[in-house]
Amino acid sequence: MKNSQDFWQNLKISAKGGQAIYALAPMAGLTDSAFRQICKGFGADVLYSEMASVTALVYSPDKTLAMLKFNKMERPYIVQLFGSNSKHFIKAVKIISKKIKPDGIDINFGCPVKKVQKQGAGAVLMDDLKLSREIIKSAIVGTVLPISIKIRSQAGRVDASQFLNNVSDLDIKAVMIHGRTLKQGFAGDINWQIIKKARDFFRGVILANGGVNSWDNAIELLKKTEADGIGIARGALGRPWIFENVKCQMSNVKTKEDIFRIAIKHAGLVEKLKGKQGIIEMRKHLCAYASGFPGAGELRQKLVQAENLKDIKRILE
Ligand SMILES: Cc1cc2nc3c(=O)[nH]c(=O)nc-3n(C[C@H](O)[C@H](O)[C@H](O)COP(=O)(O)O)c2cc1C
Repeated sequence: MKNSQDFWQNLKISAKGGQAIYALAPMAGLTDSAFRQICKGFGADVLYSEMASVTALVYSPDKTLAMLKFNKMERPYIVQLFGSNSKHFIKAVKIISKKIKPDGIDINFGCPVKKVQKQGAGAVLMDDLKLSREIIKSAIVGTVLPISIKIRSQAGRVDASQFLNNVSDLDIKAVMIHGRTLKQGFAGDINWQIIKKARDFFRGVILANGGVNSWDNAIELLKKTEADGIGIARGALGRPWIFENVKCQMSNVKTKEDIFRIAIKHAGLVEKLKGKQGIIEMRKHLCAYASGFPGAGELRQKLVQAENLKDIKRILE
C-alpha cells in the first residue's frame, strides 16, 4: 500500500457499512473552488476539480495551478488531469503533489470535447489500451497520492470491462464510470449493467455516474449497479443541495428565497476568490439557480448581465 492515509479506503469502509459515497463529478468551467465549497456544505463526500492539462502544467503552469487551488474545507479534494503524453503525466503529478497537495489525482478517460480528442486525450485515449496503461503507470510512479480514473461505458472499440481488465494489476484506488458511450456524449440511457460488471475486474471504489438528478434515481442507480457510490455532475448545477437530498433520501424542497440565498452565498465566494471575472464565469451557475419557477426566464435575462455581487443581490433580493 503506497499511502496509508488513502481516503478512498475510508470511504470504501463507510460504503460497505451502507453509507454510499456521493461525489461532485468534474465539470470544466463549473466545479471551481467556490462551487465545490457550496456542494461540500450540502454534504458531498468527494470533490473533483475541473480537468487540467498535463501539458499546460509542464510548460506554463501558473494559470492552471491558480485554477486548481482549494480550501482545506474541500477535503477530500481530487485534481483531475487530462493529456496523452506519459512523460508529461509523471511531471504533472509531481507538480500537483508538491504545489497543490490535494488528496488524490484522477485521470480523465471520458472527455468527448473535440479539442481534447485532437490531443489524443480524454475518451479517445480510453480506446488506446496500451497508452492508457502507460499513462496510469506513470501517474502512479510519479506520486504517493492515490490515483483514480474516470472512464465511459465504451469509447471506440474498448468498453469499461476491457479497460479495467487491462489495468487490473495497477494500484488504482477508484474508478468513476460514466455509463454512456463516447458516441452518446451526454444524453441517453445509462448502461448500468456494464457498471455492475466492473466489480469483476476492479477491487477499488466504484462510482456510477450519469443522469442522477434526484435522491430516488441515485438510489435506483446504486441498487442496479451495486456501486460504492455515485458521481453527480449536472444534477448539482443550480441544485447543490442534491447532496443533502441523496444522503437523507428525501427531497428537501427549497423555496425561491432559499435558492436565492444559496446563489448569493455562492456568488459571494466567487467574487472573493476570482473577482469580477469570476462573476462573469458564474453566469452559467446563476442561470441554473434561476430555473423551474414562474418568472425564471425573465430573471435569467437580468442575471446574465450581472457584473458583480452587488448586481446579483439587487436582482435577486
Ligand atoms: C459542462 C461539463 C463539463 C464537464 N467537464 C468534465 C471534466 O472536466 N472532466 C470529466 O471527467 N468529465 C467532465 N464532464 C462529464 C461529467 O463529469 C459527467 O461524467 C457527465 O456530465 C455525466 O454525468 P451527469 O449526467 O451527472 O451530468 C463534464 C460535463 C459537463 C456537462
